[in-house]
Amino acid sequence: MKVLVVGSGGREHALVWKIAQSPSVKKLYCAPGNPGMASLATLVPIPVDNIEGLLQFAESEAIDLTVVGPEIPLSMGIVDRFEEKGLRIFGPSKSASQIESSKIFSKRLMLKYGVPTASAEVVTRGEAYRRIRSMDYPVVLKVDGLAAGKGVVIARDEQEAAAGLNLIKEMGDASSDIIIEQFLEGVEASFFVVTDGVHAVPMGTAQDHKAVNNGNTGPNTGGMGVVSPSPQMTPALEAEIMSKVIEPTLRGMAKDGMPYKGVLYAGLILSDQGMSVLEFNARWGDPEVQALLPRLKTDWVDVMLASIEGRLNQVSIDWAGGSSVCVVLASGGYPGAYQKGEKISGLDGDFGDTLVFHAGTAQQGAEYLTQGGRVLGITAVGETVSLSRQQAYSAVKKISFPGMHYRSDIGAES
Ligand code: GLY
Repeated sequence: MKVLVVGSGGREHALVWKIAQSPSVKKLYCAPGNPGMASLATLVPIPVDNIEGLLQFAESEAIDLTVVGPEIPLSMGIVDRFEEKGLRIFGPSKSASQIESSKIFSKRLMLKYGVPTASAEVVTRGEAYRRIRSMDYPVVLKVDGLAAGKGVVIARDEQEAAAGLNLIKEMGDASSDIIIEQFLEGVEASFFVVTDGVHAVPMGTAQDHKAVNNGNTGPNTGGMGVVSPSPQMTPALEAEIMSKVIEPTLRGMAKDGMPYKGVLYAGLILSDQGMSVLEFNARWGDPEVQALLPRLKTDWVDVMLASIEGRLNQVSIDWAGGSSVCVVLASGGYPGAYQKGEKISGLDGDFGDTLVFHAGTAQQGAEYLTQGGRVLGITAVGETVSLSRQQAYSAVKKISFPGMHYRSDIGAES
């Protein structure tokens, strides 16, 4: 089978790493990919938003299965376009991926089908500036469209709300409508399922660490590291999330004429009052997937085919026991403007069983350089969180680049 993975980050490196282990895969491509995966897949220089270019490539190379990593091509309708041409592709359609690409769509869906979520109202940006003068704080302000992790502001007072709205204003089209949402206190958990539109199979949980600094301080990032499973998860809570969140959402989407296929990621907040959905994403989380796939024993290609063919009820998923920790190494300045082109040292070291996923690197001759905000994800799997933590951080110590920073408390609260 010939497989094409679309994307270029740590998520796609982890996907390529896992898919390359499938006995049914004879040839693997990644578009555009990154240098870290070059020994596993042929890199194809087509950007993720060039849907026609990807389609032409898949047709000319007779690709049997295309796997979409990021949300942008999903929201542009890559799945619909490939399916129109009779090509097999894993992921939700354009209408189903609105669950991530429109926060208003997903909030209305949750309210309509009784999925636990914070109360909210949708207003224009102009109206939001008026409302913030007389609100009970804290509140959450969200933009409707995709905003690369920058579309959510938690405001503790009117001043912070005004500053947040000013930032949001700079986003242009994505920000014309604003969701003003009740702030919920608690611990975040990422919950994943794979679904064929009818059946849903749990695909693991993780606790992301979104703030840039230790102790959850500093600005938000795409995620500075994860521990998996989520330390708060219990079999009872997992069953509750399936019955109160995942099942009504999938039933509702099917009823509304947009059945959801692919990986569905529920971003949850867990508190003494129970669990509530903060947001849905139409894809694997990153870096969550870098910690999840290394513990997955089942062939991921078989699972994706079962999702596409509507037979996930016949699939059983096996996991290695224990837990995993992924630590993200980031560029100086990230999540603000960051340095690029810094030489990365230590990647030729011996990492044993620890995995080094590339997220934002470039290659120059035999050297690797920094290219993105999040540069590398270091994942270790161990019998306990404490053992995986130890192993991940001892690998982190072997790598360096000017400006490199990371959180040293990933998994520490477990
Ligand atoms: N780690 C958060 C995300 O993938 O959206």
